[in-house]
Amino acid sequence: MRMNIVHIGAEELNYEIRKIADVANEVERLSGQPMAWENIGDPVQKGEHIPDWIKDIISEAVQQDRTYAYSPTRGLLRTREFLADRCNARGGVRITPEDIIFFNGLGDAVNKVYYLLRREARVIGPSPAYSTHSSAEAGHAGYPPITYRLDPANHWMPDLEELRNKVKYNESIAGIMIINPDNPTGAVFPREVIREMVAIAREYKLFIVADEIYMNMVFQNRENYAPISELIEDVPAISLKGISKEIPWPGARCGWMEVYNQKDNPIFQKYIKSILDAKMLEVCSTTLPQTVIPDILGHPQYNDWQVERNRFFEKRSRRAGEIFGKCPGVIVNPPAGAFYLSVVFDKQLTDDMQLRIENDRVRTYLESQIPPNAEADRRFVYQLLGARNICTVPLSSFVTDLFGFRCTLLERDDEKFESIYTSLADAIQEFVHSGYVAAV
Ligand SMILES: Cc1ncc(COP(=O)(O)O)c(C=O)c1O
Repeated sequence: MRMNIVHIGAEELNYEIRKIADVANEVERLSGQPMAWENIGDPVQKGEHIPDWIKDIISEAVQQDRTYAYSPTRGLLRTREFLADRCNARGGVRITPEDIIFFNGLGDAVNKVYYLLRREARVIGPSPAYSTHSSAEAGHAGYPPITYRLDPANHWMPDLEELRNKVKYNESIAGIMIINPDNPTGAVFPREVIREMVAIAREYKLFIVADEIYMNMVFQNRENYAPISELIEDVPAISLKGISKEIPWPGARCGWMEVYNQKDNPIFQKYIKSILDAKMLEVCSTTLPQTVIPDILGHPQYNDWQVERNRFFEKRSRRAGEIFGKCPGVIVNPPAGAFYLSVVFDKQLTDDMQLRIENDRVRTYLESQIPPNAEADRRFVYQLLGARNICTVPLSSFVTDLFGFRCTLLERDDEKFESIYTSLADAIQEFVHSGYVAAV
């Protein structure tokens, strides 16, 4: 090559959630045993049934020629009016349809949020963090992510003192990113925590990016939760929302951005305009899902159905807490929202810890896939594929130095859920004790 054509941030792009699926597929083929897919947050893949009334709305829309057309770059006006009214009805900050922009899934929105920032401007995000955010932010900057700690010993609450200090002493930090409810921890941050983060943003003249894709999936202490629109007051912010998890329709590739307080902030306004202009170059986002959003979210059965879904996740969260509660060697906080659970090993992991893999071909294949300097939790997760046919994601791939793994509450089948979770608890015991025995 005449010159190095690789982007400065190329090393920062990493999405283990999908990468591990390739290895798991091969293990499934070699072992002839079905894999339990706990790596990805796709409720449909895990057996969730889409209610008939939602399918009827979509079927009817599919019959209309206009749903095959391009839509306006910002998104369909009727849908943006519906969403702006919904936001305004909650109280707090007020928006108009002009403050909403649609994207091809939130993944698309997340990429544009960071890509269109000035290179030197950094956004501090949680650790652990959902990798789409941390990778896109770090990829744009060409440096590793800047993070504030979520504390597993304190229900995964953010270390606000660390956040304040990092913001205070690092002038390149221009924004704070929050995921609430959180992926990968399942934590829901209460109002007072978010108010404090907003106060830090106000004091240091930062903007906030709040990923609220799970905002209607809070099943514990609901009264303590509020979306950022209710708490943001005068601070410039972006709220990211979507239908991938809520309807659930991840294959629709449809999400949107609500922009708060852009009018009084010319720089922020210009930045938002650059996001819209970038979207304009792509013409628009998917039309069909936008068309049906008001009819689905405004349907008389919608709220009751959400309540029922949340009861299901609450039941799963409680049971997961019971199973891991009897499992020494790990810290587990039963999720209060979203549908992920992060397990953290609370003892030192050593290189000799391992899981027994009976199938020789699977063991040999996995050994070839685990780099010699792999993090201890990556070894656990890879060996788990061969030893238990369960595919999770190593916690260390979520920008954290904690070791553990992420699994989900999504399994619809009670027996399968029970079997996956008891097998995980059993594997943890085998792994942490194998090192001890080897050492003796
Ligand atoms: C916190 C968070 N934000 C964004 C996304 C991406 O959602 P979408 O399917 O709309 O791209 C996900 C998907 O798992 C997520 O967990």
